[in-house]
Amino acid sequence: MNMIEVNNVSMRFNLAREKSESLKEYFLQMVQGKLMFDEFYALRNVSFNVEKGDFFGLIGLNGSGKSTLLKVISGVYKPTEGCTRVHGTIAPLIELGAGFDMDLTARENIYLNGTVLGFTPAYIREKFDDIVEFSELRDFLDVPLKNYSSGMIARIGFAIATITQPDVLIADEILSVGDFLFQQKCEARMNELLARGATVILVSHSIEQIERNCNKVAWLEKGHLKMVGDTETVCSAYKQIHRE
Ligand SMILES: Nc1ncnc2c1ncn2[C@@H]1O[C@H](COP(=O)(O)OP(=O)(O)O)[C@@H](O)[C@H]1O
Ligand SMILES: [Mg+2]
Repeated sequence: MNMIEVNNVSMRFNLAREKSESLKEYFLQMVQGKLMFDEFYALRNVSFNVEKGDFFGLIGLNGSGKSTLLKVISGVYKPTEGCTRVHGTIAPLIELGAGFDMDLTARENIYLNGTVLGFTPAYIREKFDDIVEFSELRDFLDVPLKNYSSGMIARIGFAIATITQPDVLIADEILSVGDFLFQQKCEARMNELLARGATVILVSHSIEQIERNCNKVAWLEKGHLKMVGDTETVCSAYKQIHRE
């Protein structure tokens, strides 16, 4: 069964070519039809499916369109062309710190972020200790998040997003900031979610991490889908071209 369908997706960003000096000038240029844009396709005609139970890896150099694709799948961006479909609930861990307020404490942010993800306060209260234990931040609960390292923030984000069983978990580079032990813990938790029926999409610039965990891999190259298939085939082709 397909959990995620990506059908011929293209995503175009418009980059303003000439800077307007002021808002007034911007509107003048706009009504005169003089606004010039450089069109840039971050994704071009990308199609593939992710099946239920897949631990699906997404690889490609920086700027190849991985995060853009995940944002299209999560519904953050509407694609310029094509469509995506997700069957079931989705827990997107896309941008580090999204859904957090850096001026609030970790304790407050657990409630804030949990609410953003759609959990009730009662449910968050019930799971609070699990989240704190998993993220190993008990001693820092009442410290504002701005004093946390990016690794600490990733730990809380991951802990909150995985307290329930989402149908689809999307993890975009979030594990790259944590230490090795925490990475292993996250990998173990992703595998638990999979064992209970979830589907996971993982973006990582560590090919070893992809090879260790994923059964299928898609490779993006400058917005185009270069290859999709079993991990071995795609990763060895990738390593031929982009030696680490
Ligand atoms: N909101 C945006 N506006 C304009 N260009 C963008 C935007 N988001 C991403 N891009 C561009 O799209 C390309 C793909 O970016 P991204 O999806 O973040 O790549 P990756 O996650 O693979 O590093 C990059 O060239 C990036 O600069
Ligand atoms: Mg990215």
